[in-house]
Amino acid sequence: MLILGIETSCDETAAAVVEDGTTVLSNVISSQVDIHSRYGGIVPEVASRQHLLSVVPVLEEALRAAGASSGDLSAIAVTHGPGLAGSLLVGVNLAKALALAWNLPLIGVNHLEAHIYANWLGPGMPGFPLVALIVSGGHTDLVLMRGHGALARLGSTRDDAAGEAFDKVARALGLGYPGGPAIERAAANGSPRHRLPRAWLKGSDDFSFSGLKTAVVRLAEGLGLPAVPGAEQVAADIAASFQRSVVDVLAAKTCAAAAREGVGQVIVAGGVAANALLRETMLRRSPVPVLIPEPVLCTDNAAMVASCGHFRLLAGEVHGWDLDVLPGLKLG
Ligand code: KG4
Ligand code: ZN
Repeated sequence: MLILGIETSCDETAAAVVEDGTTVLSNVISSQVDIHSRYGGIVPEVASRQHLLSVVPVLEEALRAAGASSGDLSAIAVTHGPGLAGSLLVGVNLAKALALAWNLPLIGVNHLEAHIYANWLGPGMPGFPLVALIVSGGHTDLVLMRGHGALARLGSTRDDAAGEAFDKVARALGLGYPGGPAIERAAANGSPRHRLPRAWLKGSDDFSFSGLKTAVVRLAEGLGLPAVPGAEQVAADIAASFQRSVVDVLAAKTCAAAAREGVGQVIVAGGVAANALLRETMLRRSPVPVLIPEPVLCTDNAAMVASCGHFRLLAGEVHGWDLDVLPGLKLG
């Protein structure tokens, strides 16, 4: 069964064809990162206009690369939230037009749930029940999943998302946008020698990263950044210390939740899951087997949307023409 996935929730225009929810036949991503990096972050109106320009060529390329035509498809899955309203509208409108023209079921997918399904696209097969850590630019959620569609949120961030903290700290250190990869590159040349705060929020599965971000900004100012001799090394040491602090908290709280809930599987998903220190730390510390998608499937893509759509379709969950965009959609 082939599902076409479409993803336009933020600054990546993506389309993909996935077979049986697990085999990626094509995965085309057109990133707007170069356009937004000029502004130091995503400009919503620029993003939606860029989606409008890219979405049809990206769709055509995804079908061509998969060797698939409309007659081979069983459904169209599209992200309808959370995300930027104007960006989501481009993908949802295209998905509706295609579903109407090709007489196919239309499935609106939660972007955060789609991130989880990137773990069905790798060599390992996740087993239920599992604990999932979703760490992206806008969200940080810890979720208990007992089966397809059976999600319960255990905890979330109370302020900044993990990816947002990476982006804000990178900006404060003058490392550029997007912050996650920039921090990771800088940290590779630094030492985690600064002891930065870790918000454990004991007794809760929630997270908090805004205190850490403030501590980093104060530390950077205190050490004289940006106009201090050896500024690059100073920034690298701060980046390494910040990365260590975020990863420590994410890994420790996820491992504790997995042990407490008695699950046999942990999965990690979302853009921050591309981070090598987080990947290595989770694999080393988790009490149960861990799955993490390859980096290109951690950041925004449409293969994860198609996979999620496959399992929705099996459960008979399709949408009508009243499918709307839900910019504030939550998990569970
Ligand atoms: O999931 P994603 O691609 O988009 C959202 O749904 O938000 O996540 C983007 C976030 C950004 O904040 C970016 O800085 C972060 O993921 N990110 C990383 C890395 N690659 C991307 N954070 C840490 N290390 C990375 N290698
Ligand atoms: Zn995402």
